[in-house]
Amino acid sequence: MIKAILFDMDGVLVDSEEVSIRVGEEYFKSKGVNITHDDFLPHLGGGERKFFEGPSKAKGYSLNYEDASQFFKEHYEEYLSKTHAALPGIDIVKRARKAGIITAVCSSAPRWKVFVNIAAIGLEESDFDMIFSGESVKRNKPFGDIYLNAAINLGLDPKECIVVEDSLFGVKAGKNANMRVLAVTGTESATSLAAAGADVIVTDLSAITEFTNPTEFEAIFEDYSKSNSDGILYGTSFITPFKRRASDEEIIERMIKEASMARDNAYAPYSKFKVGAALLSAATNRIYRGCNVENSSYGATICAERNAVIHAIAEEGSLGIDILVVYSDDDPPAPPCAVCLQVLAEFSRPDTKVVLASVDGFRKTYLFKELLPNPFIFPTLRN
Ligand code: THU
Repeated sequence: MIKAILFDMDGVLVDSEEVSIRVGEEYFKSKGVNITHDDFLPHLGGGERKFFEGPSKAKGYSLNYEDASQFFKEHYEEYLSKTHAALPGIDIVKRARKAGIITAVCSSAPRWKVFVNIAAIGLEESDFDMIFSGESVKRNKPFGDIYLNAAINLGLDPKECIVVEDSLFGVKAGKNANMRVLAVTGTESATSLAAAGADVIVTDLSAITEFTNPTEFEAIFEDYSKSNSDGILYGTSFITPFKRRASDEEIIERMIKEASMARDNAYAPYSKFKVGAALLSAATNRIYRGCNVENSSYGATICAERNAVIHAIAEEGSLGIDILVVYSDDDPPAPPCAVCLQVLAEFSRPDTKVVLASVDGFRKTYLFKELLPNPFIFPTLRN
């Protein structure tokens, strides 16, 4: 049974990874060293020392860590104050407390930074039962020490703790501590987080719906992470589906809501025919939305389904569609057009479910092969 949520801070509660990188860039610039944004990315989430030493080593620069650390301390708060700072869904800290769940911060960052962060997002130290920072352990993430240390101090078994993370080091630290990990995307793609071992992946913490006690929170977590099958061929690529997820019926209900929200954003000034789509990525269990986007040059119009595919590829780089929902006010509800079916074929299995849903509640489920039995497949890619 879940008793505690252990939050990483940067990239989970505070939108600070980019701020840290800006300050880091400024530091190296002041030293005349060409270390820029992307050089920092592989070194996030493992504490300040890794953050500076990682890119320095990679570029052959001999770093004075104390100097860099001092620069960071002097400039971080100022840079952070120019941003919105709070990430969506951080009221989960207070919601968890209210539901009788213990909350703690487990950040690899120095203690001063944790307190600057807490203040910047409008929370208080007292919103957490305990605060663990980089100083509290010798071995930083990806070692599980900070999380194990937290469990011991809170008098809990690792099985009773959920870790919330955004970085690959962080996810691995949570898994190394034998805890269940909820990961948020942003710092890393959903695909990388899944490969690092995340049990559940959400875009942000507002995806965690209402809960009034630990049992309900656990039910939400387990619902998001229920079991699925083994590797399957999707179009041209082999995809290992996300290991666990809720039943199709539950997921389809959620997808219809998301498709309906996407449809609200449809840009259809010419046809006035608004369409929303939602697809479920088999690799990560994430839902991607799309709406139709029309154009003065009519042929340049993008349909909702292709828009959702584009979103998914931009985030994950590859795609296997487990379920697709198309949402419109058509009666009976509109199927994907022939162009979309051809595009979708590249990312679907013959038995991918296609759910056609309408605003007035009509639902009809097809298998992909029923809608497009003979897609064009590039000659060299045919089985
Ligand atoms: N549309 C879609 O978004 N999906 C389909 O599969 C059928 C058509 C959109 C494109 C255009 O903006 C409008 O519906 C009318 O064709």
